[in-house]
Amino acid sequence: MADELTPETPEEEQPKKTHKQRKNGLYPGVSDELAENMRSGWADTELHGLEPIAQATHTLARRDALSRHFPGERLVIPAGRLKTRSNDTEYPFRASTEYAYLTGDQTENGVLVLEPTGPAGHVATIYLLPRSDRENGEFWLSGQGELWVGRRHSLAEAEQLLGIPAKDVRELAEALTEAEGPVRAVRGHDSVIESALTDKVTKERDEELRVYLSEARAVKDTFEIGELQKAVDSTVRGFEDVVEVLDKAEATSERYIEGTFFLRARVEGNDIGYGSICAAGPHACTLHWVRNDGDVRSGDLLLLDAGVETHTLYTADVTRTLPINGTYTDIQRKIYDAVYESQEAGIAAVKPGAKFRDFHDASQHVLAEKLVEWGLLEGPVERVLELGLQRRWTLHGTGHMLGMDVHDCAAARREAYVDGTLEPGMCLTVEPGLYFQADDLTVPEEYRGIGVRIEDDILVTEDGNRNLSAGLPRTSTDVEAWMARLKS
Ligand code: GLY
Ligand code: MN
Ligand code: MN
Repeated sequence: MADELTPETPEEEQPKKTHKQRKNGLYPGVSDELAENMRSGWADTELHGLEPIAQATHTLARRDALSRHFPGERLVIPAGRLKTRSNDTEYPFRASTEYAYLTGDQTENGVLVLEPTGPAGHVATIYLLPRSDRENGEFWLSGQGELWVGRRHSLAEAEQLLGIPAKDVRELAEALTEAEGPVRAVRGHDSVIESALTDKVTKERDEELRVYLSEARAVKDTFEIGELQKAVDSTVRGFEDVVEVLDKAEATSERYIEGTFFLRARVEGNDIGYGSICAAGPHACTLHWVRNDGDVRSGDLLLLDAGVETHTLYTADVTRTLPINGTYTDIQRKIYDAVYESQEAGIAAVKPGAKFRDFHDASQHVLAEKLVEWGLLEGPVERVLELGLQRRWTLHGTGHMLGMDVHDCAAARREAYVDGTLEPGMCLTVEPGLYFQADDLTVPEEYRGIGVRIEDDILVTEDGNRNLSAGLPRTSTDVEAWMARLKS
């Protein structure tokens, strides 16, 4: 689909072409007659009376809270730009979490600006690329023209959908260059906007904006909880899909599992929320195994860590460790049941008022007990925990916040997150594991190459918690019964 007409620079950075320039051959290979012909004969497809998106009242409340936090300052939150994969092809676009959280929009090049109206209060404007101009030919002659990439919403349509006044983004960089007064921007998404602001912002002040937006997302509103449940429900169906095709995976590779889950994610959601970990046999001990090119063998375990991301960009993050042939061996079951017991202890510690660390400590305590009981570590358990000796096999923290980012709220301050207190509306994973590397000579041979993790998505409620991923079985016997049902 490469075409010599595709320009090399994004259209908003190109000068608008006059009729005279066109005549002088700035669009090579386009005769005046063709250019004239392409200008007319198109129906008016403007949409009217559009209903606001479902989260519009929530995004308004989020912008209001942001406004109250930074009175008198201009705030600039870009969606980001397409990233080149090679030549004129791009990676799939995913809007920045901050932008999507505050607008509900996911359009590349979009920018949300909160303009102070005085010492308090802001007016929000969303800057977007408008519909392609037919008069100057950009709709078919520009690589980002609608004939190539599909119809965009007009600015008027975007206003109705998002509930935010919309303007042409091609005018924003210049307006920001000329703007006066304090400014903060979310960095790392849009180099054009950052260049325009270069003399007006500081790293420290921008970081405060990023931290605020990270912490603001810790407690989910009702819309977000609904989306997280949708993400998890699709993920449950994706796991069922995988169990149903395990024989095909055995005949091919872990890739069959990755592709099967991805199909569910793309059909029911926007995408996967992170690279699926489809780790069969000893690959389960490689925490971020995303190559997924190994064999799938009867008698081994499959550690599947995967999550569907919804159309609104909320992701699940779920892990199950399954016996590929449907039945755990004795040693697999022993390790699995220990991790399950640890996860039960962790989930029980998730409740409002508990410290974020409590569930990690509860889970680790059980794992340390098991490792001592099995003779892999010398007790007492408190000594093991104090020295962190269990970590040779537990490897990672027991969970993290979950939301639009799989590792959500990552820029939050320690006191608001890892040293913080759980509140209703927070959503987190509880995911203990035990991993015995294939070359670990400190454990008996039967343990080597076995890795087990169980991961669920837990919502903190007023009186405790709710397991959003309870639709998947967790005990070893329930997993076996579930697999038998799906495979029959
Ligand atoms: N899937 C990445 C994690 O569990 O944190
Ligand atoms: Mn996780
Ligand atoms: Mn995970």
